[in-house]
Amino acid sequence: MTELERIRLLLSSAEKISREQDTDRLLVMLSDLAREVLEVDRCSLFLYDPDKEELWTKVAHGVEEIRVPADSGIVGWVAKKGESLVVNDAYSDPRFNKEVDRETGYKTRNILAIPLFDKKGNILGVFQAVNKLKNGFNEKDLELFTLLGGYASSALENSMLQKKIKEAYKEAIMRLSHAAEYKDPETYNHIVRVGLFARLMAEKLGYEKETCDSIMLAAPMHDVGKIGIPDAILLKKGRLNDWEWEIMKKHTLNGYEILKDSSSELLQMAAIVALDHHEKWDGTGYPNGKRGEEISIWGRMTAIADVFDALLSKRPYKDPWPLEKVVDHMKDLKEKQFDPQLIDIFFDNLDEVIKIRERYRDEE
Ligand code: C2E
Ligand code: SIN
Ligand code: SIN
Ligand code: SIN
Ligand code: FE
Ligand code: FE
Repeated sequence: MTELERIRLLLSSAEKISREQDTDRLLVMLSDLAREVLEVDRCSLFLYDPDKEELWTKVAHGVEEIRVPADSGIVGWVAKKGESLVVNDAYSDPRFNKEVDRETGYKTRNILAIPLFDKKGNILGVFQAVNKLKNGFNEKDLELFTLLGGYASSALENSMLQKKIKEAYKEAIMRLSHAAEYKDPETYNHIVRVGLFARLMAEKLGYEKETCDSIMLAAPMHDVGKIGIPDAILLKKGRLNDWEWEIMKKHTLNGYEILKDSSSELLQMAAIVALDHHEKWDGTGYPNGKRGEEISIWGRMTAIADVFDALLSKRPYKDPWPLEKVVDHMKDLKEKQFDPQLIDIFFDNLDEVIKIRERYRDEE
């Protein structure tokens, strides 16, 4: 490939690359482009896994995922030293790890490998090009590969940052939802489970992943309105009298008021969930006596998730029920209290429901 051809190829790819939103696809594009412009047989992008002290192939041409100890081979050397390396005769270089070739049946001749750093200079991984078809690697190759590696580093760093923000956001919602019920002996895991049960129903109904993630975060907020209920009522050991019950029922409207004016779609979903989660399919629920599909689907899902988990759990006013009793009771209330289609979906997937309960068990 002539210099001009290289530049043409880079320019024509630049637009496609800059428009790609998905990090995984972007990394594949960069590896494909590197393979073409460097005229090598394969490229691999190794990510550093600090927990396992390993490097693993996020993208690899022609092979399954490879994992190597972070201090082994050419890629290990590059990660450790933080320096680029050109090896034009792999088998005569003592740093080369022949084990990988032995396992994959591939014959490595020459290698160009560069370290990938985040903006703080921490190592993210190693970008490697293997087997240049003509001659060996030269300075121009290193320069180009470093340019493409820079794109890969930024993309990786952005996606990791986004993931961190999302996790922090998720955790903040969960912790605040739990704080609203802190006086209740309801556990942190109760609200996590309610979210996961609701997501399970949404998944089985075929909603998009983003919507399923939203209901997982909105459902746990259903009882935030309990923050306005006096302790004497909320924590009462026995049954509530009529006036106490009238106050208790207001937790639905309180929650709605707290959440409803947000411009966030997620919090709007949560507001509807707070409002509708005690409505019943036959119209006998509260606060509005909505019936059937007048009740939002998110409220109907959360009702099933919440009651299922409440019945299996201990409350100041009740002991936990055995599973069979909960299932029978809730199936009896199909079409009375609960959306019949959702009840079928929920109990058709009882094994997955139980797995969630076991995974997020209450600590003693
Ligand atoms: P929660 O404890 O989170 O219960 C949520 C829902 O699960 C209840 O909504 C109800 O549909 C179901 N559930 C929970 N425990 C039982 C039970 O022992 N038997 C039956 N049949 N269903 C049960 P509900 O009834 O609208 O209650 C809303 C909230 O009001 C409850 O939330 C709880 O905080 C409070 N609450 C309800 N009943 C009593 C009570 O007798 N004493 C006290 N102290 N609080 C109560
Ligand atoms: C090495 O870096 O020594 C082995 C990794 C590979 O060949 O892909
Ligand atoms: C959570 O732990 O915050 C939710 C559970 C999960 O997404 O696995
Ligand atoms: C209560 O009265 O204690 C709540 C149970 C109900 O009326 O549904
Ligand atoms: Fe409630
Ligand atoms: Fe609850």
